[in-house]
Amino acid sequence: MKVCRRSTFNAAHRLYRPDWSDEKNTEVFGKCSNPNFHGHNYVLETWVEGDVDPETGYVIDLKILKDLVKVHVSDKFDHANLNLDCKEFEGIIPTAENILMVIYNLLRENLDKRFQLKVKLWETENNVFEYEG
Ligand code: NI
Repeated sequence: MKVCRRSTFNAAHRLYRPDWSDEKNTEVFGKCSNPNFHGHNYVLETWVEGDVDPETGYVIDLKILKDLVKVHVSDKFDHANLNLDCKEFEGIIPTAENILMVIYNLLRENLDKRFQLKVKLWETENNVFEYEG
């Protein structure tokens, strides 16, 4: 059985490599490399798969999942500049792919091993990313 908690956070980022020239960064990342940063309204789906506990009828109490995402994702990244404010992205280009891997690892470390975890991130209405380790 799979259950999902949907959550949102707003964050700013800039895609660039400090070891590349401005020209090369613009060539590869385009407008996403704008030095003044830009923001997205990210939508995150956190999917947990496991057996239904016969005692509670739950896979996992969604309140537990809600709090897990709040503490390890929203509280860290909501209204943050991912490049400048978040130690999790030191040395990591905050592409949606990398953001999702960071989120997955943060949640995986804090979720009971008996559950399978999958995360899905919408960066825009049209661009979606999925990761399950
Ligand atoms: Ni962007």
